[in-house]
Amino acid sequence: MESQPETCSPLDPVDWEQFRLQAHALLDRCLDRLAHARDFPWRPVTAEDRMALELGEAVEGQGMDRLVTDLVERIMPFATGNTHPRFFGWVHGTGLAVGVLSEMVAATMNSNCGGRDHGAVYVEREVINWCRRCFGLPEQTSGILVAGTSQATVIALACARQRALGAGSRAEGIQGLPRLTAYAMVGVHNALIKALELLGLGGAALRTIPCRSNGGMDLDALSRQVAEDRLSGLRPFCVIGTAGSVDLGLFDDLSGLADFCAQERIWLHVDGAFGAWARLADAPWRDRVCGIERADSLALDFHKWMYVQYDCGVVLIREEADHRAAFAARPAYLAQQSQGVGSGEPWYCDYGIDLSRGFRALKVWSALRAHGSQAFGEAISRNCRLAMRMAERVTATAGLRLVAPVTLNICCFSAAPEGWDAAHQDGFNTRIVQQLQLSGEGVFSTTRIAGLTVLRAAIVNHRTCEADIDGLIAAVAAESERLLSSDALPKLGQLRS
Ligand SMILES: Cc1ncc(COP(=O)(O)O)c(C=O)c1O
Repeated sequence: MESQPETCSPLDPVDWEQFRLQAHALLDRCLDRLAHARDFPWRPVTAEDRMALELGEAVEGQGMDRLVTDLVERIMPFATGNTHPRFFGWVHGTGLAVGVLSEMVAATMNSNCGGRDHGAVYVEREVINWCRRCFGLPEQTSGILVAGTSQATVIALACARQRALGAGSRAEGIQGLPRLTAYAMVGVHNALIKALELLGLGGAALRTIPCRSNGGMDLDALSRQVAEDRLSGLRPFCVIGTAGSVDLGLFDDLSGLADFCAQERIWLHVDGAFGAWARLADAPWRDRVCGIERADSLALDFHKWMYVQYDCGVVLIREEADHRAAFAARPAYLAQQSQGVGSGEPWYCDYGIDLSRGFRALKVWSALRAHGSQAFGEAISRNCRLAMRMAERVTATAGLRLVAPVTLNICCFSAAPEGWDAAHQDGFNTRIVQQLQLSGEGVFSTTRIAGLTVLRAAIVNHRTCEADIDGLIAAVAAESERLLSSDALPKLGQLRS
């Protein structure tokens, strides 16, 4: 056989042996960073650091040596910081060491998972099926991996809208049709409003229902609002159950919502972005997710409480026919073939927005293959116990005050003197959060609870241990004391964010 040149493209390495050495060295630096994650907190990107990133016209390449140096010195140091065990801001998953391997393989394969017949698609099917079984959904459930819960929500609500309005709405749009309304607890994530906006239903289509003392939507209030809307000629089309609210980790009574939706013939969507994973945890946390198996659709993230690298969310649709009715579209050039790479069914482009899609499934598959779901359940339970420990440390520390009970993995508290006016308390708490971030001691974010800006820790970090919780609460107390005795104090009322 005639021998072929290894490559004829200048976009491939000129010298593969040299590239191999560079790649091995870079991999070592990546692993060093993860093995010593504790030494790498978030750090600010200075003007000088930003200048070093400038591409300009980028007409001439600078070669691999220079690139590898830049990746190590100019890029890696400026991560978000969520690989660090004292990062509790927003709901940022940590990522897994195994993810470095799977991302490397996914980049090597460069699969397009919009459809067709190749290994990556079968891996995604395995992940979707595992997820379906994990949440107790029936066999006809379909699903697709997406960027995150925000995108998953758009897909789920598009299916619900399609069910409510029928096939004609795909071609004709929603003008002239009855106005659709959706229902969710006060404190529902903003992603739901965004999805309604994007679907042309308008954010005002969302009715927020007050919660009972246990945190979930008041079912009587929900029932009254639905009846009132029907009387006004509106068409209630979707109830959104929350499994883990973003501010406090609260749960709706999902079984109660499923009964209500069955009776009213309304689609039940569950936003389980992180909280749904309590399903893998010990009691009592796992009990909070009861009823999730009755959802018509479910949106959640692997990149939050399954610790998998960004980005990766999933949407599951109970009836595959609903999923296909809302998204399937195969122009002639995508027609399914009987064999070859153009064969295979289903194609993921029929379940979502993207035609071209990367191999997100591999990082999830690899995480499950390497560690098993039991290990994730243990890590999730441990995070919940750490949140309880944080609450105990807060309560035991003079000057700190818990502002809501800890029910899952989220702890919200205030360090500001209670007698102060709200603006000064807000400014004080905000300043503490900022100072701890800047000093590299740890990352809280803020939120507003009962009209006050407070410190918020969402623990979805598998590296955190007891000493991190104790150390960080001690750091809050020390920063609070320092601030109370500082000259900056009178200006805090102006510092709300
Ligand atoms: C409850 C809830 N829903 C939805 C989202 C949005 O998820 P994503 O950031 O993956 O789009 C979040 C994000 O924190 C969340 O906490």
